[in-house]
Amino acid sequence: MTIIVTGGAGFIGSNFVYHMLEKYSDYKIVCVDCLTYAGNLSTLEGALENPNFKFYKTNICDREEIYKIFEDEKPNIVVNFAAESHVDRSIDNPEVFLKTNILGTQVLMDACRKYGIDRYHQVSTDEVYGDLPLDRPELFFTEETPIHTSSPYSSSKAGADLLVLAYHRTYGLPVTISRCSNNYGPYHFPEKLIPLMIANALNEKPLPVYGKGENVRDWLYVKDHCKAIDLIIHKGRVGEVYNVGGHNEMANIDIVKLICQKLGKSEDLITYVADRKGHDMRYAIDPTKIHRELGWLPETKFKDGIDLTIKWYLENREWWETIISGEYQSYYDKMYKNR
Ligand code: NAD
Ligand code: TYD
Repeated sequence: MTIIVTGGAGFIGSNFVYHMLEKYSDYKIVCVDCLTYAGNLSTLEGALENPNFKFYKTNICDREEIYKIFEDEKPNIVVNFAAESHVDRSIDNPEVFLKTNILGTQVLMDACRKYGIDRYHQVSTDEVYGDLPLDRPELFFTEETPIHTSSPYSSSKAGADLLVLAYHRTYGLPVTISRCSNNYGPYHFPEKLIPLMIANALNEKPLPVYGKGENVRDWLYVKDHCKAIDLIIHKGRVGEVYNVGGHNEMANIDIVKLICQKLGKSEDLITYVADRKGHDMRYAIDPTKIHRELGWLPETKFKDGIDLTIKWYLENREWWETIISGEYQSYYDKMYKNR
């Protein structure tokens, strides 16, 4: 069994690479990642020595190179994590989101059609459903919820999802899609809420909360997401979408206060800044389908997952300090300086 994992040098992709190498000693895992600002080869240090692992520094939009990799590796399964993934960056500059997230997906699926594949899996997001109001806690996203996006990021992910379903219907490509809620855990890039707040708190820097901090996200420990994808690629029904989420809704401000408390830092570090444009209010997944069909349930409770995550950031300071000392600094100034 050979699995191509695109975006495997990023947050969720790398956790998936480690999960698969550990669980299936007879699988070959081929990572394809062009190492954007969000991709980091040091993240894959523990895999690079493994004879079952291979790394290609390649852009998924590069049709010629992607076809060559398919010709050489003859994958049985492709799992596409590669994406531009940060909403704030998509608001600043949408173009690369459309290129990677939509056109890159197309190149991968064309390669699957040309060389044959048992399964193409698209890693998508609950953000394709738009948002829910705070005063209707009984509402959740199901797989039938209409696509209704807010940001260039979520629109590009929705565009890709529609294309994936079209390749199934039109060409019979054996596809599946997972739409997951917000992940947290090791190797999370420090531009995202939880790792940004941990890093800033540890450095006694202001903790920038958008708007009033009332926005709600449904947080899932990354390893539970990896287990869900593992189940879907092996047992999920072709042509189907599976929602993945933790039934773990929290307001941003509560997360930030919890991080302050866990790290013994003062809440005075919290600074309310201008809201994100088009800011989605609430995400909440109904994971009934994946539970009923595949028996998946989140295994890590938030109270344990956040402790594991904070511990990881404390023990792996070099990993994130290297990141925030580089080009990240100019990104940070641009996003937060006059906010
Ligand atoms: P990330 O930004 O941490 O990692 C993305 C990876 O893709 C990086 O290693 C980057 O180098 C690589 N990449 C980007 N453009 C590429 C290209 N053109 N060619 C090859 N590689 C490229 O992202 P993440 O948080 O790990 O998210 C992975 C996937 O999961 C994305 O598709 C995202 O939409 C989806 N997702 C993320 C979350 C979340 O909470 N982070 C939730 C649901 C779904
Ligand atoms: P983020 O981690 O960017 O994920 P997403 O927008 O894809 O859900 O943000 C999570 C929430 O945290 C979102 O409501 C925006 C908010 N947020 C802040 O308040 N401050 C920040 O500095 C960041 C990065 C996010």
